Order: sequence, then C-alpha cells, then structure tokens
Amino acid sequence: MYPKKSLSSPEQTQNKNAPILPLGFHTVKERSHSKEPSPLCGLVESGQESTKRCTKAHLLHPKALAKTPLNLGEKNDMNTENLAFFDLIQRPRRNRRSPAIRRMVRENRLSTDQLVLPLFVRDGDGVQEPISSMPGCFRFSIDLLLKEAKEAQALGIPAIALFPLIEDQKKDKRATESLNPDGLLLRCVKALKDAVPDLAIITDVAMDPYSSDGHDGYVENGFILNDPTLEILAQMAVAQAKAGADIVAPSDMMDGRVGAMRAALDTEGFSDCGILAYSAKYASAFYGPFRDALDSAPRAGDKKTYQMDPANQREALREVMLDVEEGADMVMVKPAAAYLDIISAIRQIVDLPVAAYHVSGEFAMIKAAAERGWLNEEAAMMETTLAIRRAGADIILTYFAKDIARLLQR
Ligand code: PBG
Repeated sequence: MYPKKSLSSPEQTQNKNAPILPLGFHTVKERSHSKEPSPLCGLVESGQESTKRCTKAHLLHPKALAKTPLNLGEKNDMNTENLAFFDLIQRPRRNRRSPAIRRMVRENRLSTDQLVLPLFVRDGDGVQEPISSMPGCFRFSIDLLLKEAKEAQALGIPAIALFPLIEDQKKDKRATESLNPDGLLLRCVKALKDAVPDLAIITDVAMDPYSSDGHDGYVENGFILNDPTLEILAQMAVAQAKAGADIVAPSDMMDGRVGAMRAALDTEGFSDCGILAYSAKYASAFYGPFRDALDSAPRAGDKKTYQMDPANQREALREVMLDVEEGADMVMVKPAAAYLDIISAIRQIVDLPVAAYHVSGEFAMIKAAAERGWLNEEAAMMETTLAIRRAGADIILTYFAKDIARLLQR
C-alpha cells in the first residue's frame, strides 16, 4: 500500500528544496542494488516496522532519474525538483504509455467478422418505421430490408438475424402463420437469398411473434405445454430452412427443442442447416423494447416457466450441455452484458462457438443515456461490446453492429 499521508509530513515542509518524502522513506542517490527480493512490499506509513521494510523500496533522488526507466510521458523536461520517485521494478503503466504500445499488448479485439445484425421486418412497401424504444432501429418492409442487408454486407458483417412483426389477425394459438411459405418471414428469407446470397441468414424459431398468446410455447388452460410445442418448432425450422435460412435459432427454451429440430431438419434433407441454440436465455427485463418492436409480449403471465432464472449459473451449464448433446452447432447466452459470468463459464466448458445477444434493453440503455448526454455513445458501445468479447463470446448479436463495423473501418 502506498502511504496516504505522505505529503503532509512535517519534515518535508521544513526544507522546500528537498524531495517530498512520505513518512518512513529514505532518499537515495542511486538505484539501490539491495539483495533483498521484491521491492514491491513495504510502501507503508512510518513507524518502526515500516522503516525497516522500506529498505526494500527505495526512494530515488530526482538526479537518479536519468539512469532510471521511469515513465514520465512526453514531458521529460518537467521540473522534478520537488517530486518523489520510487525505485519500483514493476510498473504496469509502462505497457500503457502510448497508443502504439497499448495496441501491441491488447489482449482482446473486436472484429466485424464476429458481429450479427438483428433486423425487424414488417409488411408493406417502402416502409422504414422507427422503433421508439430502440433509436436507430427500424421495422423494414422487405424491399428496404434488402437494402439494409446489402449495406450490412458491404460493411463486412457476415450474418443477420431476422424477426418479423406479424399482424394481429394472423396470430393464432398454434403459430400457423409461421409455416405459410408466402408469409412475411419466409418471403423475406427467399428475397434475401436471391439478393445477397453470401450473407448468412439466421432465423428465430419461436412461437411468440405468431402466437395469439404471445408465448414461445403452445398454451392450454394457462399452461405452456412443452412437447406439443416441439412439433410446431420442428416444422417451423424446416419451413425456414426450406426458404433458405442458413442457421435456425431456437429462442424458446422448451426442453428437447434442439434434438427435435435436428431430427426434423435431417429427415427433410436439411442436414446442412445449422442450429444456433439460445441455450442460456434468461427471463430478463431487458427484452422490453424488442417486445414493443414486435408486439410480442405475453398476453397473460410471464416467461419464467421456460426462460431461466437470472439467479442461476450452474443451470446454464446444464442447458448448454443438453443442447450440445442434442446437436446444436453454436450456443448462445442472452442477454449478454449483464451475463458476462455466464458467457465466461460456458466458454470454458464447450468447444462450440459461443454467441451472446446484446439485447434490446441493453442497447436502449446506452442510447437513452447518450441522448441525455450522460454517456459517450460510441465509447460505451465499444466498451460494452468488447467486454462481451472478453468474457468469451465468439459471436455477438448486436443492434450496434453497423456502427461498430463503421468504427472498425476507420
Ligand atoms: C423471441 C425472442 C425475444 C428476443 C429474441 N427472440 C424476446 C423474448 O424472448 O421475449 C429478445 C431480443 C432482444 O430483446 O433484443 N423468443
């Protein structure tokens, strides 16, 4: 520990030209060649004991500076007369002293290759409808979504994830509209595959946007029934693969869905279609803006009987292992920024790519604070996304994908 009261030492005030000494420290003319082990200990306040320990950490006289690789930044001509310098061997700041050195020692970096852009699609022509709780995000009609997808691809983003806004009158208990080959999402996938074939298309497999109950599962008497849902999800995955989806992404958290989907896809001849499993998806408050965007909030109850309890970590590992056994190609954690420990724990137990979804509410928080001038949006965006990467995510779904890609191009 460094001395807290060092500058108020009475001895120092006596001689104005003497270096400012913390209590209990000696001034030395040269770097000491003490044989004692580490100089890192002993920087403590005065007193018998600390004086003794101080021999391990000597104070350098400013004149010794010339021989000492101290990091003084740009200003080597600064007046050091009255400043104290210590003979520290370990100075982590040396590795941070310039942008070039910081770049060299950086442990994690973001790349556009790791980003997936989630996009909302709606009916109509020439429509680009702003989503009020997600500034900068829109519900696009298919024609304009193609434009957006091309732009994403031009920026180097490898994949987009699609979410459809379904009109109320098309919703029913069984999410039937999700299987309609002329329905919004499947038309959109086909159009994308024609227009931007190299962009990977990820489609969400869940009943909620199509369900009159607003749940991810089939509802009977107020219960969300697991197994009847699997049949619907398996059909939905096949329909999406048939339309051209490269990867289907079950986001429903029913038990056994990955296995059911894998079997159905393989039986129907879509063994190439990948599965990105939302393996650890939490019952989170951070999906609010997304549910506004798609009008997909549950009509009754909540999602706590299928999405995970935010209190649990071990359970996430269990969910992941089950999805891996059932044939997932990638696993996902959602939300991301509030669940970095989960990402990190999962990264350690699987070899598969780990994705993380920086969700609508996490995005909205940064946007809202930035709009009020409380945060620097760009800096907060990069720091948050990098933190998700550092935790161990290989793939990051983020509404910031285009902004990050642009920034990385600079
Ligand atoms: C649908 C789904 C949701 C999200 C992705 N897929 C909402 C939910 O589970 O209620 C949330 C994404 C976001 O908030 O950005 N199952």
